[in-house]
Amino acid sequence: MMPKGVEQSRKPVIAGNWKMHKLSADAVATALSLRSLVANANHCEVVIAPVFTALKTVADRLEGSNIHISAQDCAPEAKHGAHTGEVAADMLRDAGATYVIVGHSERRQHYSETDTFVQRKTRAAIAAGLTVIMCVGETLEQREAGNAEQVVKGQLEGGLRELTVTDLVRIIVAYEPVWAIGTGRTATPEQAQEMHAFIRRVFAEGHGQDAGNNLRILYGGSVKPDNIAGLMRQSDIDGALVGGASLDPEVFAQIVNYDR
Ligand code: 13P
Repeated sequence: MMPKGVEQSRKPVIAGNWKMHKLSADAVATALSLRSLVANANHCEVVIAPVFTALKTVADRLEGSNIHISAQDCAPEAKHGAHTGEVAADMLRDAGATYVIVGHSERRQHYSETDTFVQRKTRAAIAAGLTVIMCVGETLEQREAGNAEQVVKGQLEGGLRELTVTDLVRIIVAYEPVWAIGTGRTATPEQAQEMHAFIRRVFAEGHGQDAGNNLRILYGGSVKPDNIAGLMRQSDIDGALVGGASLDPEVFAQIVNYDR
């Protein structure tokens, strides 16, 4: 793999997934304090993913800033219609989002999302002009059984099926080992690097060396201010998808402004 710094096109992405937290007033307050704390962060793309209900308000208040807005999910259907409870990708775009997270392990585990479902959401999101952050990752059981790579490969191939080379430019992969999410037990930089290199290899095998070299792969799972720098020093780690530590603007800003 290309050492970091040689591959200039992989601008790091530090994304905060707020999950189901924050009423609108709190979301706006957090976003506004983050806005000034990361105003000089040109080394990476800063992204936050508020809940649907706060998305537009937050996006409006961040207009003109360097913070991008992501949704946490989208409907698998591109066409508007009778899909109670769903939000279409172009509606998210309309509300101010430019990114969307798909296939988060919480959705795979608690809402039975399959790779096919994730693939349909990905296609719908790309059609609406969104950049997709596609989450993959194995459970502890799968890792201990020696199946981590096989599981991640299956999720990747399933989620990316039928995408064109132009579509692939809009894909960011987030490797989030399920055992590291919200547990305080982060993968070591070496464990994460090993899987990231594997993901890049799988991507390159399926879609060509250039696509592999250009793919940004984020690590997620108990990322904190004290472990981000070690993770970011790994050659195949291009950023982070942060849960709990993204809820406090001061803490998230420390992650964004990691020691480089
Ligand atoms: P934590 O950072 O809270 O472990 O969550 C990670 C995550 O799931 C981000 O999508």
